[in-house]
Amino acid sequence: MYGQRPLADLRWVLRGIAANQIARFFPDRYVRMTGHTGRGADESSARQIADYFWSCFYDYFEILGIPASDIGRYLKGKTVLEYGPGDVPAVAFLMLAHGADAAVCVDRFELYRPSPASAEVLGLLLDDLEGAARLRGEVCFRTPLDPASGLAEPSFRYVCQDYGLSGLRDEADLIISRAALEYANDLSATFADMRAAMRADGIAIHKVDLAGQRCDDDHPLSFLTYPRVLWWAMCSHKNTVNRWRIDHYRRLLVEHDLETVSLEPTALADRRLVDEVRPRLASCFRGVSDRDLSWLGFWMVLRKPTSRPAGWRA
Ligand SMILES: C[S@@+](CC[C@H](N)C(=O)[O-])C[C@H]1O[C@@H](n2cnc3c(N)ncnc32)[C@H](O)[C@@H]1O
Repeated sequence: MYGQRPLADLRWVLRGIAANQIARFFPDRYVRMTGHTGRGADESSARQIADYFWSCFYDYFEILGIPASDIGRYLKGKTVLEYGPGDVPAVAFLMLAHGADAAVCVDRFELYRPSPASAEVLGLLLDDLEGAARLRGEVCFRTPLDPASGLAEPSFRYVCQDYGLSGLRDEADLIISRAALEYANDLSATFADMRAAMRADGIAIHKVDLAGQRCDDDHPLSFLTYPRVLWWAMCSHKNTVNRWRIDHYRRLLVEHDLETVSLEPTALADRRLVDEVRPRLASCFRGVSDRDLSWLGFWMVLRKPTSRPAGWRA
């Protein structure tokens, strides 16, 4: 934790600041140098990555209460917007193959480019498909049946912008993200973008990881001990987490007039972890309650007030 070992802190901070400047002036090189996939290093083979994306895809429908056999019916004619897809637009591909009209992926960093690695994963997903989904999947590519050619516009759109915003207006029926909102460099702007993009009967489903950032120790919250200005100097141009806690997300929901359908933690830190970090917290986190500090991740389902999203059965 910051402040416990001054020399190690100094080394860590100087390294962070230098890397941040490389990311600032040579963003493409930085993304290539760090081999950033967006997913972390848990899955290594193309098969494991493809399976990871299958589980992401099914999670959304499980939350919507839509059985696998009804996914095609639900997606028919719909536009899906995904924030932060990472280096393979695999969920967008699965949405299109299962019947979505359009899939828009937005990111702040251009992690996706048609490459042999992304083609291998998309190829495996295509091979997994059957029946109508398989037929639709085959023609999702610029060259039908060839994942190496990349996903075809206009049904697929990949937008890269400084703040990872879509700029859509009343177009998205289903808005999704996985391990992306915690990276948003202007979370309030992302919420405003999401609200503007969402159709009146649309729905947004996000999985947020609040403990994904590890420092030079193994404590899941030690990154909250770095003073705000140091964190900014080390990370502002990198693909690094914004550190906002659940209390801030709740405030943004009110500020942007979004209704919470559900907000459930995926993991909670135990008392010991919170007690350990509490005395060392950066001043900007001292007002966060112990309970809120313990949220290590969550699922969040949102809609516009008074709307009844199509397909929502709760
Ligand atoms: C940890 S990765 C998750 C990738 C993918 N969703 C997955 O589950 O494998 C975080 C993603 O969020 C993206 N990201 C970073 N800043 C963003 C922003 N301001 N708006 C949207 N996406 C952003 C990253 O570039 C990356 O694609």
